[in-house]
Amino acid sequence: MTEPVKLVVIISGNGSNLQSIINAIESGQVNAKIGAVISNNPNAFGLSRAKKHSIKQQIVDHRSFNDRGAFDQSLLETVNRYSPDFIVLAGFMRILGSAFIQAYEGKILNIHPSILPDYKGLNTHQRAIDNQETEHGVSIHLVTESLDDGQVLLRGRYPIEARDTVEDLQRKGHALEHQMYPRLIQWLCDQELEVSPNEITFRKQLLSHPIEFNHG
Ligand code: GAR
Repeated sequence: MTEPVKLVVIISGNGSNLQSIINAIESGQVNAKIGAVISNNPNAFGLSRAKKHSIKQQIVDHRSFNDRGAFDQSLLETVNRYSPDFIVLAGFMRILGSAFIQAYEGKILNIHPSILPDYKGLNTHQRAIDNQETEHGVSIHLVTESLDDGQVLLRGRYPIEARDTVEDLQRKGHALEHQMYPRLIQWLCDQELEVSPNEITFRKQLLSHPIEFNHG
């Protein structure tokens, strides 16, 4: 058995994606170890989830810093303590600065509730309903300095029905996210998916398009 891949998970809130990753690790589906869960929000419920599973919790409260650079620096120092192979953003609702991103280029993953490149930014579900879309989804992408713009690795889709509300879409999206994040992390841990500065390969083939997630 190879060494577990080291993860740091950064959250801002509920942490249901964090929970899905914890569950996948505990069930042996994913050969990884979460060194710490870091939150910019001291009240994030995800911190309690980490505590329950005896995972270290760290708070880097953005409100205690005068500017974004100082917050970023502190977050970077906190992350560095755990020397992660990958940083998993799971409902982290702040924008990372360039110093942070450059320090971990190609190693920061984010999950976003839309089929990127459509609907970058916030309120994606409401905007999709307003535009009478018939489909919405979830993307997992590498984090770069442009918001929600890094290479998309994995994309999942679900239908929007006529009467669907924002809550309905959030529920469908979460159900998909909870399968997608563990699966993608599993591929990284098993080196089925390999990210290097020059190329991304999936099962030894150059990844030219995002992988389409199919359930089950
Ligand atoms: C997830 O739906 C994720 O896609 C979204 O926040 C939610 C967090 O849920 N992320 C973003 O909007 C990032 N821009 P969770 O805290 O229950 O995992």
